[in-house]
Amino acid sequence: MEARFALPPGTGQTSAARVLDDWYVVCRSRDLGRAPRALTVVGLPLAFFRDGEGRPAALLDRCPHRNVPLSGGKVADGCLECPYHGWRFDGGGACRRVPGLAGEAESPARAARAFSCVESDGYVWVWPGEGPPDREPFRFPHLGEPGWAVAHDAFETVGTLHAVAENALDVPHTAFLHRGLFRGTGKTNELEVVVRRYGDRVEAEYIGEPAPRGLVGRLLAPGGGMVTHFDRFILPGIAQVEYRLSDRAHLVVSSALTPVDDQRTRLFAVVAFRLPLPAWLVRPILQPIARGIFKQDARILALQSATIERFGGEEFVSTELDALGAHIRSLLKQAERGGERKAGEAKERRFRMRA
Ligand code: FES
Ligand SMILES: [Fe+2]
Repeated sequence: MEARFALPPGTGQTSAARVLDDWYVVCRSRDLGRAPRALTVVGLPLAFFRDGEGRPAALLDRCPHRNVPLSGGKVADGCLECPYHGWRFDGGGACRRVPGLAGEAESPARAARAFSCVESDGYVWVWPGEGPPDREPFRFPHLGEPGWAVAHDAFETVGTLHAVAENALDVPHTAFLHRGLFRGTGKTNELEVVVRRYGDRVEAEYIGEPAPRGLVGRLLAPGGGMVTHFDRFILPGIAQVEYRLSDRAHLVVSSALTPVDDQRTRLFAVVAFRLPLPAWLVRPILQPIARGIFKQDARILALQSATIERFGGEEFVSTELDALGAHIRSLLKQAERGGERKAGEAKERRFRMRA
């Protein structure tokens, strides 16, 4: 049936940004074993495998010979072997074997495109740009430090990296969408918010925030009190929430966001915590709550994406409560254009909010 009223033309705007020259998490180190894996990063279909020394390697997932996906093959002699004619490629993409060919297998024209791939903090990271990388992958804070425990989880959701990062660092929705689980259990307080923008990151500091009184808050700070709270976005896709509830209760959730493509994002959460309760007790309580929160977020993000698509582009109205979204967007767009990321002096802005 034909629509009676046409929608006005959309803005055609999207916060999707293809930042290729940086490191993205691919998977946990333990999840890349003997078998190759196919994973798409920033729209690039890649085949991951471990070479003869066990080092992770990434090749474009298309055999240069007849374009069969290399990830459907197997690892042989430290090389990735194509399932069609058995050409073999090493971790650098060089063709090492062409079954039946009397002459030398290696030739630049037969090479598969290779991408820089490393292991750091228990994760496999890839640099989807041309390279060579000019920086190290992000380091997750407090891993292996005495008194600290860590929990890992991973999710995939519909939404641009920008939308997912903004959601992960957005305070006002927590009292509403996650009512009871997080904030939003009655009384509100006036807080001061300081937003600091740097060349490669932006952070918001919340001053005067009492310990959250939801389920999570009661668990982490049974005595209440004031908290130190920072939300940070660090290029190309780290969304970090830091809560210090007391000398004995400190929590840093670092989510490494990897764009699968423009509209889908994978989230690898690394939760470092030092709490008055033993880690074995905290983990099984926190995980279902965290997953419940994420489910609510994923549902909203999918609705947001579908609505933006239906209306032909983004059209956002903001208040100062949307502390980081516009900064995250401009950082991503700047990085997409290959802009400089000098740390330098922060630009600071302050406002007050009720939370
Ligand atoms: S298509 Fe890969 S070896 Fe022929
Ligand atoms: Fe949320």
